[in-house]
Amino acid sequence: MIKVGIIGSGSMGSGIAQVAATAGHEVYICDNNPEALIKSRDKLLKILNRLVEKGRLEDEEAKAIFGRIYFKKSYESFADCGLVIEAIIENLTIKKKVFAELENIVDPKTILATNTSSLSVASIASACKHAERLIGIHFFNPAPLMKLVEIIPAIQTSEVTTKESRNIIESWGKLTVLAKDTPGFIVNRVARPFYGEALRIYEEGIADFASIDWAMTEIAGFRMGPFALMDYIGNDVNYIVTETVFKSFYNDPRYKPAFTQKRLAEAGFLGRKSGQGYYSYQEGIEKPMPNKSKELGEAIVKRIVVMLINEAADAKFWQIASIEDIDLAMTKGVNYPKGLLAWADEWGIQNCVGMLDKLYDEYREDRYRCSPLLRKMARDKTKFYA
Ligand SMILES: NC(=O)c1ccc[n+]([C@@H]2O[C@H](COP(=O)([O-])OP(=O)(O)OC[C@H]3O[C@@H](n4cnc5c(N)ncnc54)[C@H](O)[C@@H]3O)[C@@H](O)[C@H]2O)c1
Repeated sequence: MIKVGIIGSGSMGSGIAQVAATAGHEVYICDNNPEALIKSRDKLLKILNRLVEKGRLEDEEAKAIFGRIYFKKSYESFADCGLVIEAIIENLTIKKKVFAELENIVDPKTILATNTSSLSVASIASACKHAERLIGIHFFNPAPLMKLVEIIPAIQTSEVTTKESRNIIESWGKLTVLAKDTPGFIVNRVARPFYGEALRIYEEGIADFASIDWAMTEIAGFRMGPFALMDYIGNDVNYIVTETVFKSFYNDPRYKPAFTQKRLAEAGFLGRKSGQGYYSYQEGIEKPMPNKSKELGEAIVKRIVVMLINEAADAKFWQIASIEDIDLAMTKGVNYPKGLLAWADEWGIQNCVGMLDKLYDEYREDRYRCSPLLRKMARDKTKFYA
């Protein structure tokens, strides 16, 4: 069994280390901040102990998992690792420097992976002499719990690297989807309207946060409403992802960030972690009551879901991923109640086109343009699934 190296012992690095060690690998995890290493060690121990308490893990097993993880101050000890996953700060210059240095230590055949959420994998790979062995392996947070992993080969990545990476990650009990090296890959691209369209509905004064969240959970079946979810993720973090995707798509109005969220982030109303976001998380403060009008709720659901469907269809149109992988990514990566393309079939492609065209006619904004794929499918009377 190969040894696995992990650079960065923050939330993602620690989670990935737990997953790899649980699968039986010897794991070397390093961080340039000694305090982060101690924190990671303590956190892992606590998580494993909790799993034992809950009866999900035998005590001996937990000890063996922990015993397989080696906490290191540098990656000198990574020489004989078969796979090294980088999960450091989201900064292109620093990531490139780390990979260039790492290449002097590891074997030329060692697979090098980046867990980047938003940077170009091709750009990171360009720092390597053997760029063919670099690939994007994008875990979701928390890595031990989230089933999905996006696999993102760069244009330099060899087929062998892609195949071997997928095999390793699947042997860890994960579901993998293949995504093109484009901004947001699958999930962080397709999910944008969940937040963006909800914010837009609020900004137009159509409904308040609580009513939009109520409609999306109670009528559409999402586990969390968009505002509760943004508060959970953190408005600073969620805003930056939207802004990065928007800028990376050359300011495509489909991904335009909202002032409402920007102001919240600027004010420090970050959500749960700061005690105040769209909602207050102070003790004793009751949640606002939603307007439970069926008509309003259904209109909200139709508008947000059809925008999500359009985004998913467009991801297929631009060959970002297969139909199955797009649906799997959204159901397993962000727990959507249904695959968006299956949802499109259920609503009827012609109906979806009709809804999008109505929005476009109303606003005359490029944001509401219907994907050419949906339009063609409506014309040809085809479906995503036979
Ligand atoms: N947090 C998420 O939800 C999430 C999800 C998927 C992917 N990601 C991506 O994973 C990566 C890590 O994110 P995170 O949330 O774990 O960040 P984090 O801030 O929790 O952890 C990053 C760690 O990297 C360390 N580090 C920074 N520079 C380093 C260097 N040169 N060498 C060694 N260690 C270094 C830091 O000390 C820190 O402990 C980022 O690229 C991020 O975009 C994050």
